[in-house]
Amino acid sequence: MYSYKNKFLHCESVNLKDLHKEFGSPFYCYSSNILEEKYTELKKALKNDNSLICFSLKSNSNQSIIKTFSLMGSGADVVSIGELKRAIKAGIPTDKVVFSGVGKTSEEIIFAIKNNILMINVESISELNQISSLASSSNLIAPIALRINPDIKAGGNEKISTGKKQDKFGIPVNEAIDIYTYANNLDGIKVKGIDVHIGSQINNLAPFEKTFDSILNAINILDEKNINIDIIDIGGGIGINYKDEKPLNINDYSKLISNKFGSLNKKIILEPGRYLTAESGILITKIIYIKENQSKKFLIVDAAMNDFIRPSLYGSIHNAIPLVENAKSKATENYDIVGPICETGDFFIKDFLSPELREGDFIAITNVGAYGSVLASNYNSRPSITEIIVRQDKYSVIREKQNIDDFINLDNLATWQKS
Ligand code: LLP
Repeated sequence: MYSYKNKFLHCESVNLKDLHKEFGSPFYCYSSNILEEKYTELKKALKNDNSLICFSLKSNSNQSIIKTFSLMGSGADVVSIGELKRAIKAGIPTDKVVFSGVGKTSEEIIFAIKNNILMINVESISELNQISSLASSSNLIAPIALRINPDIKAGGNEKISTGKKQDKFGIPVNEAIDIYTYANNLDGIKVKGIDVHIGSQINNLAPFEKTFDSILNAINILDEKNINIDIIDIGGGIGINYKDEKPLNINDYSKLISNKFGSLNKKIILEPGRYLTAESGILITKIIYIKENQSKKFLIVDAAMNDFIRPSLYGSIHNAIPLVENAKSKATENYDIVGPICETGDFFIKDFLSPELREGDFIAITNVGAYGSVLASNYNSRPSITEIIVRQDKYSVIREKQNIDDFINLDNLATWQKS
């Protein structure tokens, strides 16, 4: 929970001023309480005991964040051997892990099968053949689902919409039926489920409803062919309110799931990422300079697009709040909040309406817990920043900031350049 106490912004019971005094700026801060509340809220809404939340690690794969969910019984949705190793290390049982993605390598497939994960979500016939040959040559059986592409538009923007026919993801329903029949007779393959993921930051139920109908249709056809599916993986995609958005009601979402699938007696898997992590995270940054030209006032802050790229990459709208509350002042100013990187695209918020701010003030960009630090880079040779998690009155560094020399030392001179 973030709230002002005696005018100072707190994360749970910790004054953020104390954190920037101790750790400098910028830094990411997460609230354990919000992470746990979001998970509990979703779990409660899903009255179906036979449902499994597989936290989508790509939204935030810090060990401490994964551990928070693992302790609450979560599974994991992973898309690389790196994420699978992170899930295992944070204590997620491998029989609660699903593996998604269009380009799994042989190394990743073998590692996943040997670790007995719940299901590999297969995206093409080539991948299916590859899994079959890798599993059977090791005398193993790979549990699989086919990811179907229902040709439905959904999600916050083009770049995060994944369920249309022109997207690289999934297999069209009519083709999937034939591939299921083929898979059912393949060595080393056990058909377990059906999978879909149509996009991210979805704020209404309509695309989910259409997608679920498409899954039902496929299951009916498969039933007729005596191909039995135990697991329905409905992917992630639940949106949140970044600013002036109306997210879907989680109880309505759950009702839709049980209306469509409740009578089938199958395990339902959800792969939420953003929904679980976005609201818990803020990015604290200091105003280094205020610069004004004829048309704009810029707040130049010490964080940049390399730390948090969503606005630059997707044009995503975020909000910011000051670390010291200024409740009485009216929003008289219109600022662009920008970073120090040498690109016009390096901004966090355009036309940020606010009471007057000063050089040296701190602000927090809100709702950055998902797709924030995981998308960070060292662009402009900027080291990655400190990440801190708060639990009531305790706080703990969950990622140290990078040492500049350490990452410069990752480079080598070519052999002929060394004296
Ligand atoms: N499952 C699969 C197969 C996915 O590809 C994704 C997200 C998820 C689950 C989790 O989706 P969520 O519940 O978080 O919406 N970087 C973008 C979002 C990319 C989402 C990619 N796939 C952003 O910052 O908006």
